[in-house]
Amino acid sequence: MWDYTDKVMEFFYNPRNQGTITEKKEGEAITTGEVGSIACGDALRLHLKVDEATQIILDARFQTFGCASAIASSSALTELLVGKTLDEALSLTNKEIAEFLGGLPEEKMHCSVMGQEALEAAIFNYRGIPLDNHEDDEGALVCRCFGVTDAKIRRIILENDLTTAEQVTNYVKAGGGCSSCLPDIDDILAEIVQEKTTAVTAATEVAQAKSTTPLTNLQKITLIQQVLEEEVKPALAQDGGDVDLFDVEGDLVKVVLKGACGSCASSTATLKTAIEARLRDRISPELTVISV
Ligand code: FES
Repeated sequence: MWDYTDKVMEFFYNPRNQGTITEKKEGEAITTGEVGSIACGDALRLHLKVDEATQIILDARFQTFGCASAIASSSALTELLVGKTLDEALSLTNKEIAEFLGGLPEEKMHCSVMGQEALEAAIFNYRGIPLDNHEDDEGALVCRCFGVTDAKIRRIILENDLTTAEQVTNYVKAGGGCSSCLPDIDDILAEIVQEKTTAVTAATEVAQAKSTTPLTNLQKITLIQQVLEEEVKPALAQDGGDVDLFDVEGDLVKVVLKGACGSCASSTATLKTAIEARLRDRISPELTVISV
């Protein structure tokens, strides 16, 4: 017995939006997407009513032949679709369908994938795009038993963070027949791990390069001005003092002390503690501040 969530059971016993759509008004269109085959097991036919002006899905209905999770996933899909534009609907992933139901047993995740594929088929039909142009069909065929390409396997792995060939089989059935494609699925998983590792390494190198690249003079002056305005001036103002940036030569910062600071006996201490220490902490420990 599968460990279904209460929501899966609820959508199985009381499926929402089951049936077809036959009526439409002027300015509305009906489109259908179909995946799977009754002869082979699970099958789903999804019907959408679309407002042609706004491209918003007004109604969604389903007919399915499958297990409890196929019925629940199809019903959940229709609930998620109403009110979305076609473009928004296209970005829906099988993971979101499963999450809507509070999760599906991993062995049943292919039901959520079927829902997503029926949705794409319906929208492609509406837009007059041949289903052969689906991006999943552009890759090389990996699993001949179930007609699954490398592009589709890659997408499902990335969208669902899969790490094993067994998981891939649970999601798209690839590998679940004669098993001869399992080594190829392992190769795709290894490629993705390698790509992720390379991407992380590159991002780390960029971050390190940024942190070690010396500031240009313009960047340094901008930062000094910013720290003076936002941190130093408000602190000095409390005692009636002020400071203006006069010039920057390399790491030498020349300032003009004003107000109470200009005549204060402890202006040297102000320079070192209130200004120089703050600039060194925020920008560079090499900075020296003098009063001109
Ligand atoms: S080729 Fe994939 S299971 Fe047979």
